[in-house]
Amino acid sequence: MVTLTVNGHSTLAPAGVSLFTAAGQAGVRVPTSCVTQGKCKECVVEITRGMELLTAPTACETHLDARTQFRLSCQCRIAADTGEVECHTMRRGQMRIERRALHLPATHQTTTLDPAVVREGDRVVDAMTGEEIARSTGPIHGLAIDLGTTTVVMRLIDLETGEQVADTSFENPQRFGGSDIMSRIHYDSGHPGRLLMRTLAGYLSHAIVDLPADPLTIYDVVLVGNSTMRDLFFRQSVYTIGQNPYRSITEIELAEGKRTTTSLRTTGRRSLLPVHPNARVCGLPIISGHVGADAAACMLAIDLAHEDRLVAIMDIGTNTELLVGNRHRILAASCPAGPAFEGGAIACGMPGLEGAIEDVALDDDGRFRLGVIGGGPPEGICGSGLVDLLSELLRTGRMNALGRFEDGVDRVTLDAGRDIHFLERDVNELAQAKGANIAGLQVVFSDYGIQFDDVAVFYLAGGFGRHLKKSASKRIGLIPNLADEKIVQVGNAALEGATIALVSQSRRQELETLVRTVEHCRLETHAGFFDFFVDGCQFRPAGSPSGVNG
Ligand code: FES
Repeated sequence: MVTLTVNGHSTLAPAGVSLFTAAGQAGVRVPTSCVTQGKCKECVVEITRGMELLTAPTACETHLDARTQFRLSCQCRIAADTGEVECHTMRRGQMRIERRALHLPATHQTTTLDPAVVREGDRVVDAMTGEEIARSTGPIHGLAIDLGTTTVVMRLIDLETGEQVADTSFENPQRFGGSDIMSRIHYDSGHPGRLLMRTLAGYLSHAIVDLPADPLTIYDVVLVGNSTMRDLFFRQSVYTIGQNPYRSITEIELAEGKRTTTSLRTTGRRSLLPVHPNARVCGLPIISGHVGADAAACMLAIDLAHEDRLVAIMDIGTNTELLVGNRHRILAASCPAGPAFEGGAIACGMPGLEGAIEDVALDDDGRFRLGVIGGGPPEGICGSGLVDLLSELLRTGRMNALGRFEDGVDRVTLDAGRDIHFLERDVNELAQAKGANIAGLQVVFSDYGIQFDDVAVFYLAGGFGRHLKKSASKRIGLIPNLADEKIVQVGNAALEGATIALVSQSRRQELETLVRTVEHCRLETHAGFFDFFVDGCQFRPAGSPSGVNG
């Protein structure tokens, strides 16, 4: 028998049994919509050990690159009599973000409830047109979704009260098509059949069905995400986002006069989601090919349209969004930092879900004290844990500013029993992600003609940004070395912005106007980016861009 461990749960599996069946025996429910027919592609698992003990890929797995560790669990079977196989499904969990984003300008709290879908007697109607969506006296729900490259989060809102009913999150299953945006674009362009979209729609559907409301009472869906994630969902070609000048098809069509906005719209029926078939499903407008609807939504969340002070917002993710300015002038950029700070490309990395190490302290005697989400045994390290770890290694001299471990070792072990370790090559991944983020910020500030200290507030957004320790983030140079009181952690501002757009059509309309005023700073062609990047890869506090304003 082979010992199979799925998501930390073990079972003994004989040769010939599929991973899907064995996972069920171990108590792990693997997502499926096709009942193991090899069609839905939702049962994808990532093999972290024992790939050689499995049968060869079947014809249903040709969409999975043989160089990756992904397999369809309904297709691959145990092919050995002894050994160990470890794998995990795409992860699901309760969001670790607050019910409301914190510390946002007071104006957003007072957003008037004027949703796009309202009740008229026993009818549910489109508030703008009066068109009937459904006949029902039941509740009217809306769904705000933030489609991240790595993590998808959603909120269920009662559109008659504006109250949040539930939230949930899961790991974006499109990871089998690559962990960053460019790989997904490449994958989508090379594989017919909209596999990325269909797999994600399957996962979204499972998550929606599990919400504590009848999915057919969901009449409005507002979706944000970077331009690639958003356009993939709406079945747009993303090929043009991957080619110079990196523009979404919606931008091109807007410039050609074929559309009046970069927003996208479809119906519940066409979206493949189990919401009401006549539901409105809207993708908020984007700023540019690489500055997406998530950045636009952040502007709603921090109320940039009415902000007089100079502020900045940094939404750290696989693609980091940057916005600097106020109601008079806004500059935006997007950094393809990669998934390292979301746990991707890191040996023992994982998203910020239950089981992830989120706090790391290094005692004088060299022992680690670890804080684990959920309080159970650690399964891996999430982004905030990685920042803590880097900061502690730096503080205690076990790692230098170049990211090299002292004493010639190539790893540090956090939990020997569970083999949770951190490699020197992981440091390189994080150094490059950090370097890209801070270089992007320096370019934007430099182009704006200001220094870091000139901002009144530096908003740190995103599920990851919410849980960072300011001191650790400043020590390694992930964020500018500003006074603590200027740094405000606001949680998932993109989802907050999507929620505001969901409960208020007037704010949604305001955003349409605002996105047209934003200047896009193209990092990929900026003369100063590379120098800032090289400097930014070092682990030391980040100062202002030099050569501006004295
Ligand atoms: S269960 Fe549908 S492809 Fe495996």
